Amino acid sequence: MSAAEDPAAAPPALVAPPVMAVEPAVPADIPAIVALNNLFAPDGLTLTRTPAFVAGHLADYQVIRAPDGSVTGQVALDDYSPSLVELVSLAVAPEAQGRGVGQVLVAAAEALARRRGYSELFAISLAEALFLRMGFQESSIAVYPEKIARYRGISRSELSIGRKFCFAKRLTAPAAAAH
Ligand SMILES: CC(C)(COP(=O)(O)OP(=O)(O)OC[C@H]1O[C@@H](n2cnc3c(N)ncnc32)[C@H](O)[C@@H]1OP(=O)(O)O)[C@@H](O)C(=O)NCCC(=O)NCCS
Repeated sequence: MSAAEDPAAAPPALVAPPVMAVEPAVPADIPAIVALNNLFAPDGLTLTRTPAFVAGHLADYQVIRAPDGSVTGQVALDDYSPSLVELVSLAVAPEAQGRGVGQVLVAAAEALARRRGYSELFAISLAEALFLRMGFQESSIAVYPEKIARYRGISRSELSIGRKFCFAKRLTAPAAAAH
C-alpha cells in the first residue's frame, strides 16, 4: 500500500508561502539599510544614502527580515509636498530576489503613502514589470521637477533611467468605513 493510500500516514506537508511581515525600521537597522541600499548605488539603481540620512528618515523606512532578524528587503518614502511622494530605497538582498519580496515592499510603501494621505506616488526603477504589475502607470521624471530640483547632484545614470523608467500611481482615498 502506498503512503497515499495509508490512512494512518501523515498528510503531505504543505509548502507554506514565505512569511513576509513588513515592519517599520528601527534604529538598529540603520547600518543594514545603508549597506543594502548602497549595494545598488554604483549601478544608479538607488541613490547613495548615509547613516545620517536614514536616521533622519527612519519613520519612512519599512523592512522585511530574514528568520535571523537581518534585513533582506527595504523600502522608503521621500516626500515632496503634502500630495506627492516618491518610493525610494527599494532594495532586496540579491539572494532573496525573485520571490515576491519586492512586490510586498511596493505594496507596503503604497499602503503607508495612502495612510499618510498622499494623492500621488512615483518611483524611478528599471523593474518595469514589477511596477506595472502593481498598478503603476508609465510616467517620466520630467513630470517631477521637484525631484530634479531637490537632487541637483542627481546622478546622470538616474536621470537617464528616469527619462525612460518612471512609474506613477494615483492614490485615491480609501472607501469610508461604514458605521
Ligand atoms: C527591484 C527589486 C527590489 C525587486 O525585488 P524582488 O524581490 O526581486 O521583486 P519580486 O520578486 O517581487 O519581483 C521581481 C520582478 O522585478 C523585476 N526586476 C527586478 N530587478 C529588475 C531589474 N534590474 N531590471 C528589470 N526588472 C527587474 C523583474 O522583472 C521581476 O518581474 P517578473 O517576475 O515579472 O520577471 C530587486 O531586484 C532589487 O533590489 N534591485 C536592485 C535595486 C533596485 O533596482 N531598486 C529599485 C529602486 S526604486
